[in-house]
Amino acid sequence: MKVRKAIIPAAGLGTRFLPATKAIAKEMLPIIDKPTIQFIVEEAIASGIEDILIVTGKAKRPIEDHFDANLELEQNLSSKGKDELLALVEETTGINIHFIRQKRPLGLGHAVLQAKAFVGNEPFVVMLGDDIMEDDVPLTKQLMNAYDQTKASALAVMEIPHEDTDKYGVVSPNEEVSEGLYDVNHFVEKPKPENAPSNLAIIGRYLLRPEIFDILEHQEPGLGGEIQLTDAIDTLNKTQRVFAHEFKGKRYDVGNKMGMLEANIEYGLTHPEVKDELVEYLKALVATL
Ligand code: UTP
Repeated sequence: MKVRKAIIPAAGLGTRFLPATKAIAKEMLPIIDKPTIQFIVEEAIASGIEDILIVTGKAKRPIEDHFDANLELEQNLSSKGKDELLALVEETTGINIHFIRQKRPLGLGHAVLQAKAFVGNEPFVVMLGDDIMEDDVPLTKQLMNAYDQTKASALAVMEIPHEDTDKYGVVSPNEEVSEGLYDVNHFVEKPKPENAPSNLAIIGRYLLRPEIFDILEHQEPGLGGEIQLTDAIDTLNKTQRVFAHEFKGKRYDVGNKMGMLEANIEYGLTHPEVKDELVEYLKALVATL
């Protein structure tokens, strides 16, 4: 069966960006002029995803409003002849986006479980707003291509510095079954570097078969008292194959401050309105360091 649906969990507390995230979800923080969640939605659409479910928490309204029409704003821009801005505002409407609320932030696994009825009995993807990915073929599409070959779940992984394993889910890979696609022995959430089975870390894209929901329904809280998606995936891997697909493109970890800064600078360097000025500014700034 074709992969048609995506889940974007956006109900976490976003504590690393407090106080900015006190009243708005971290997925609404912009990279210059575009909320991070919009990059994720664009990747989903570019990959051929037809329906998106956003799992929201208490800061739900701004996300819903962002993907809704804003007639007042549209009329205002239209009457002033601001056609380019109007096109930008309209870009985010007309997409099949649905919302569901995770009432309490009990963990990523619990957030994904909220999508059970939406997904039904189909394979689907989970896309985290923390990670902006760039590659010639969108990463979600790469996972969908792997699924076409294997009909099995596949997670995106990337090499990370060994000392950072306690920030990620980490895989213990077996053999490489085809280029960049690994059979996995087991998955472990945030292992200390001395216990980490490899430095291949799970990054924010997952293609999962629907059997994951039966496991999530019975999943006990794990690390940090949260219902961990990685734990459920490790259990799934004991009854059916789960692959790891190595991503070779560029990843911006916008869930932390430095990643957010890097994304803003590099996006700025390609942004038609500011790129030239930004280059001059950075050169002048570096000269003073
Ligand atoms: P993180 O653990 O990175 O996000 O969750 P967080 O808890 O929001 O952020 P910090 O660490 O406190 O700064 C990864 C993804 O899972 C979602 C988050 O919104 C984020 O996109 N998530 C996490 C949920 O939707 N629900 C949860 O209960 C936990």
